[in-house]
Amino acid sequence: APPNIAPNAAPAFAIPDNVFAETVLDVQHYTDRLFRFRISRPASFRFRSGEFVMIGLPNADKPVFRAYSIASPSWDDEIEFFSIKVENGPLTEHLQRIKPGDTVLMRKKPTGTLVLDALTPGKRLYMLSTGTGVAPFASLVRDPETYEKFEDVIVVQTCRDIAELTYITELVANLMEDPLVGEMAAGRLRLHTTTTRQVFERMGRVTDLMRSGKLFADLGVPSMNPEVDRAMICGSMAMINETKSILEGFGLVEGANNAPASFVVERAFVG
Ligand code: A2P
Repeated sequence: APPNIAPNAAPAFAIPDNVFAETVLDVQHYTDRLFRFRISRPASFRFRSGEFVMIGLPNADKPVFRAYSIASPSWDDEIEFFSIKVENGPLTEHLQRIKPGDTVLMRKKPTGTLVLDALTPGKRLYMLSTGTGVAPFASLVRDPETYEKFEDVIVVQTCRDIAELTYITELVANLMEDPLVGEMAAGRLRLHTTTTRQVFERMGRVTDLMRSGKLFADLGVPSMNPEVDRAMICGSMAMINETKSILEGFGLVEGANNAPASFVVERAFVG
């Protein structure tokens, strides 16, 4: 039998003070580009649903850290991430091969603008995303506070093909059975997924669907109104810039943690 020695079996460096070393508990691959993983949660780690944190892998050299939105809600006793797999990506080329029992490093300080506190009160909350940009919304839709603050919650995710929509589609379906949030979300949480490259029942980019008004018509709601509608945006830089100007066209105003307003923005991070 081969000796039970791998060159990277144990971190060959001291774990810095500002980093947690956590254990991988579960990994699920959705496509050749997307996967989800869960790690243990340090008892002292606190975050607000929607925030992001820096994660990395132990190695002999200086570890590479990348920003990842936390996809699990703040009450969960595990931490979940939804990741892209980038070919030759300094982090994701290794991260996509993690298995339960492996170690993931997580910096101790979470941050971010996609938090409920950065929005002024409203009735309807839109969470607008492409690709892995849905991750912070996977956190927020599982947080009871979202339903305490908003009557209606609409999650929109545009992806290239149907398989890429599986993560959020399964999550929302399972949520309806959840003892904590299921009852609050029932009839108030709506998921509107669309594809751009594979034939599906709903097609088109979230941006184009807002410009044409088809998104609102399909949802059976009026066009966006700054009096009642609030929004969070997470996607590529191009998607963010386009979506932001569309929302500003509707009269919504960008907010921040220290200046709440009617919409907030975060880049979907890529490793
Ligand atoms: P498209 O297929 O037209 O490029 P990716 O997987 O490359 O991150 O893209 C995720 C989704 O985001 C795809 O459906 C893609 O559509 C869409 N997309 C790309 N650029 C924009 C943009 N500027 N605004 C809105 N959606 C975009």
